[in-house]
Amino acid sequence: MDFLKNVVQAPPDPILGINLAFAADSRSDKLNASVGTYRQNDLQPYIFPSVKEAERVLFSQEKNKEYLPIAGEADYLKATQQLVFGQADLSRICGMQAVGGTGALRLTAEILSHAGLNTLYLGEPTWGNHQNIFTTVGFQIRSFPYFDFHTHRINFAQLCEQISKMQAGSALLLQASCHNPTGCDFSKDEWKEILRLIQRHQLFVVFDLAYQGFGEGLEEDVWPIRLFVQEGVSCAVAVSHSKTFGVYAERVGALFMVCASPTQAEIVLSRIKVIARRAYSNPPCHGARVIKTLLQTKELKALWEKELQEVRQRIASMRQLLVSELSLHLKQDISNFSYLLEQKGMFAFVGISSYQVETLKKKYGIYLTEDGRINLGGVNAQAVQTLVRALAQIPDIQHSTS
Ligand code: LMR
Repeated sequence: MDFLKNVVQAPPDPILGINLAFAADSRSDKLNASVGTYRQNDLQPYIFPSVKEAERVLFSQEKNKEYLPIAGEADYLKATQQLVFGQADLSRICGMQAVGGTGALRLTAEILSHAGLNTLYLGEPTWGNHQNIFTTVGFQIRSFPYFDFHTHRINFAQLCEQISKMQAGSALLLQASCHNPTGCDFSKDEWKEILRLIQRHQLFVVFDLAYQGFGEGLEEDVWPIRLFVQEGVSCAVAVSHSKTFGVYAERVGALFMVCASPTQAEIVLSRIKVIARRAYSNPPCHGARVIKTLLQTKELKALWEKELQEVRQRIASMRQLLVSELSLHLKQDISNFSYLLEQKGMFAFVGISSYQVETLKKKYGIYLTEDGRINLGGVNAQAVQTLVRALAQIPDIQHSTS
């Protein structure tokens, strides 16, 4: 008997699958600006020197590789908590090491489902995996427009109206900074308005924090989370360190549940531990120990902060270049692309159509995600020029006129 005959072939992953297609492409001038990993000017994978050094220190000091506690490496969690929440009173926050940001979101979905929530509102567009993670756990997904494809910006008035109509007792996922894929973040005043709305309409916010340090700075990029904590709101914060420390393959993340009280935090953590124990037992130690070592060593932390600043600057210079190249090759006033300079983080969202994405791939060997997102952390000046020149040959760019 063939027990597995009813298994249906799954399609390749829309984001990570692109790396496989790219690897299989034999063209020597191919270009991968799809998956969100940071590379330096030479377009080779980049390991932060501070991370490598922390790894060396850890190598000489590590005494065991026995199981971690189910909640993970305590000092790693403490250091990550401080990075995210600063000096806030942490007594009502419980923390759990997670297998990357995806693992943190999965734990979030499971604990919220356990708590009785069953509806999640997702902005349109958002990171492709958000929906999958929550539907797997049984959530109903409702979407709301996040990005206005005509102005290339958030339509904030419309968004507030949508939030006002959301069903009380539901969850709402918001990206703390460097929105994936659009790069469009809320201003501080807009966050304050959102806070008022979610309090009034009794919504539970899930923060996805995957790019701390890639937007305006380590503190600035977590400002909304700290605002919510300061205002006494309960929320979840799913942290990914993949980009922040460039440790993608180590799968280092964390989930913090900001609860109503220290007692509730203890209870919630006990339940998340049960969820983790049943899924993967306890988390891997290496990446967490590297990050812990880095954050606990003053010199390494300072070095990492400097390297992160250089990353931000390189991405910003690619953004500037993209704007001037678009203006030049599409023969439009530079102000038509001013929206791109307002976008934050790794990604540029120009409004490239799926037809253009497909043609870029087939004809020019240039790989973007299907939504036309450009990974500015994965290109250099030459690549930006190549990309824009190719784009200019393919009609139907939906450029802004604002
Ligand atoms: C991306 O959006 O490119 C990254 O977050 C990688 C991933 O897991 O999708």
